[in-house]
Amino acid sequence: MCGIVGYLGKRKAAEILVDGLRRLEYRGYDSAGIACLYDQKIDVIKNPGKVRTLRERVESSALESIKKANVGIGHTRWATHGPPNEVNAHPHQDASGHFVMVHNGIIENYKSIRSGLAQHGIECISDTDSEVLIQLIAFCYEGNLEEAIAESLKKVKGTYGIVVMTDHEPGKLVAARCGSPIVLGLGKNETLVASDASAIIPHTRDAVYLEDFDMAVITETGVQMFDLQRSPVDREVMEMDWDACAAEKGEHAHYMLKEMFEQPDSIRNAIRGRLDFEMGTAILSGLDFSPRDAAMINRVLVVGCGTSMHAGMVGEYAIEEMASILAEVEQAAEFRYRNPIITPSDLVLAISQSGETADTLAAVREAKHKGAVVAGICNVVGSTIARETGRGVYLHAGPEIGVASTKAFTCQVSVMLMMALKLARTRRMPLNEGEELCRWIERLPELVEQVLAQSDAIKAVAQKYADCENAFFIGRGYLYPAALEGALKLKEISYIHAEGYHAAELKHGPIALLEEKTPVVALLNNVPGKDKTLGNAEECRARKAPVIAIVSEGDEEAGEGFNDVIVLPDCPPCIAPIPTVVALQLLSYHIAVARGCEIDQPRNLAKSVTVE
Ligand code: M6R
Repeated sequence: MCGIVGYLGKRKAAEILVDGLRRLEYRGYDSAGIACLYDQKIDVIKNPGKVRTLRERVESSALESIKKANVGIGHTRWATHGPPNEVNAHPHQDASGHFVMVHNGIIENYKSIRSGLAQHGIECISDTDSEVLIQLIAFCYEGNLEEAIAESLKKVKGTYGIVVMTDHEPGKLVAARCGSPIVLGLGKNETLVASDASAIIPHTRDAVYLEDFDMAVITETGVQMFDLQRSPVDREVMEMDWDACAAEKGEHAHYMLKEMFEQPDSIRNAIRGRLDFEMGTAILSGLDFSPRDAAMINRVLVVGCGTSMHAGMVGEYAIEEMASILAEVEQAAEFRYRNPIITPSDLVLAISQSGETADTLAAVREAKHKGAVVAGICNVVGSTIARETGRGVYLHAGPEIGVASTKAFTCQVSVMLMMALKLARTRRMPLNEGEELCRWIERLPELVEQVLAQSDAIKAVAQKYADCENAFFIGRGYLYPAALEGALKLKEISYIHAEGYHAAELKHGPIALLEEKTPVVALLNNVPGKDKTLGNAEECRARKAPVIAIVSEGDEEAGEGFNDVIVLPDCPPCIAPIPTVVALQLLSYHIAVARGCEIDQPRNLAKSVTVE
């Protein structure tokens, strides 16, 4: 969703801001802008559309502040209140032009604040909820920016991550957060502020994440942090382990392609040092469970959204099957509002690549409030879910920039399998089975390499179906979540209407939609129930739907008679979702490329969904 970047230091602010916004493009946005302050004057350049348009305007600008300023703020906006146009784009200024702000989140009571301001003769010019906040801050200003911000924020309902500056106090930026992430990058003689770490990693690895209701006052002499009552707060400096080139796409045509091909390495990183062959178990030290704690868990609830929820479903199956612990996966937004029954012996696992998804975060808070043990499975170190859960497992997948999640999914499933193994070994799983599963998890990178090697063959299949308008994915058992994920990938990046179904469900309605131009991707690899799925695939064929069969090596017969066959390495059922989903990622990618779609920033989508 929206992205924020701010800079205060010795270098040219405009260049750093525009570069930072480029790095935040992956979050999804529809307008962009920067504001720079020089010689007690603020100038703003903003436009609907792309950061590259903004860059051209900045580069050709004759404005002194844009050319010379060492302090400024920038924003990419993903429209919520009002269409993407110049007036609604950030940064927003107050009526006097002395104050300027970028904002992520939603000011829920913006209408009442706006009418209150109108009574004092202050009129807002944009449709946004954000503008009222900078007008309010200017209205409350009595000579100290952080005081005006603290006063204003006390009147606000909703979520915010903001950075504000004023030409009354030129060497200062003030950032604040509630519900929308803000991270500070502490460089040498400079400070950066951003809504996510990818904008600051090229400049520094030392990061400080603000907590809700924190304010950071950034000046030449450093950073001071307060709460809204102006009492000082102390936040840990974390070292970010991502390197800057990991967030570049290099020679790859798209981030998504690069990230798919990184999967052998990202899985290696996710499992490194975590497999204990001697004890046939997994070492997940971030979980901080003794075997006794693990033995006390009566139920595991997995909460997440989108791709993360699909990875959670694989975890649900694995935990029930291997550890014989009742497991359920739930869409995180639903969890919060249906008043779930939670007991102290429940383990709630919040699964999120970004660690910032608002619905998943809300579920974490609800579960904690109800007394559950809560753990996070996140990729972004220091993200809000990682911090609020306080325990959990990092994916170590490296930055995932493509909006369509790929390497995060395969790392999430790898972690889920290790979690199931760890829990299972404290229960009934014998040592030899634990060792066997360790061996299969260790082989995951190699299995994924075998699938990636088939990219060209999968591309040839993809080209045959690039003009379809509907597609179905069917699977059973561990491959049911894989079918859901395959359909999600395809719809996200190719805009083909795609649905994933449990193979048995097809006959209960969806089969009515089958016709000659509606391909069905049938997951026929070796998992229990395969023969029944094979029967369902035959039913599709009988209705003239073309069938793309995904089968296991050694069982090629399962694909006989179908239109296209993709052969994947044979492996145990719990392992199968990983190679299968990698094949479906490639299929979606090549279809989307053949359709000429925007791969890394699909329309309407945001990488990290920070509003409910
Ligand atoms: O950052 P999260 O894993 O919490 O994000 C959850 C979903 O928004 C995300 O997986 C989404 O479905 C992706 N676009 C899928 O490719």
